[in-house]
Amino acid sequence: MSDTPPAKSKDRRYEGEAVDITYNLKRCIHAESCIHNLSAVFDSKRRPWIDANGAAADEVTRVVATCPSGALHTERKDGGVGEAPPAQNTIRLWQHGPVQFHGDLEIVGAAIDLHDETRATLCRCGASHNKPFCDNTHKDSGFQADDPAAVTVQPLDPAGGKLKITVNPNGPLTVEGPLTILNTAGESIYSGTKTWLCRCGGSQKKPFCDSTHKKNGFQAE
Ligand code: FES
Repeated sequence: MSDTPPAKSKDRRYEGEAVDITYNLKRCIHAESCIHNLSAVFDSKRRPWIDANGAAADEVTRVVATCPSGALHTERKDGGVGEAPPAQNTIRLWQHGPVQFHGDLEIVGAAIDLHDETRATLCRCGASHNKPFCDNTHKDSGFQADDPAAVTVQPLDPAGGKLKITVNPNGPLTVEGPLTILNTAGESIYSGTKTWLCRCGGSQKKPFCDSTHKKNGFQAE
């Protein structure tokens, strides 16, 4: 698999000799893992704030792969190894915040068609202005989500494979493929191959959809 999806028109490209870095501002939720882990390349006080020649291409690729939102990607120009999907698809809940997907992702549906993605943080409060992506509006809207307790789950077989996320109009995310959902402590709460995740913010069974979106008038678009 190639290391990145092709750069979208909304992406800004920072060219380096061995690796290019692309950045999508609208998908960035300012987790700042890049700045904390590789300040020679990522420095918000510098202009431009990204210097793709600031570190070895392998190090740039490694750190970019820790960007949870998928706002950052790399494109190797030196023939080096690019980012690969992890061996397992995981969905991690953020406390009173989005769901973080990490895997071999395909995101399709309402106004979106994204293939060969590896990382994304998707809105589950229902208030983002950039749905299906999180834009940190949950911090202002007071979104609260109880953290589900850990459950014993069976290891997936096969562990890997494509994870298809379908964004349903004014409804949940349909997630199909081998996946494990982790609570905010990193403990497993679900393992399986198909589920529906709430993105209206109203479910009483978060992170799962319980059809509340049909009653609360959720309008995603
Ligand atoms: S999307 Fe929230 S309950 Fe269905």
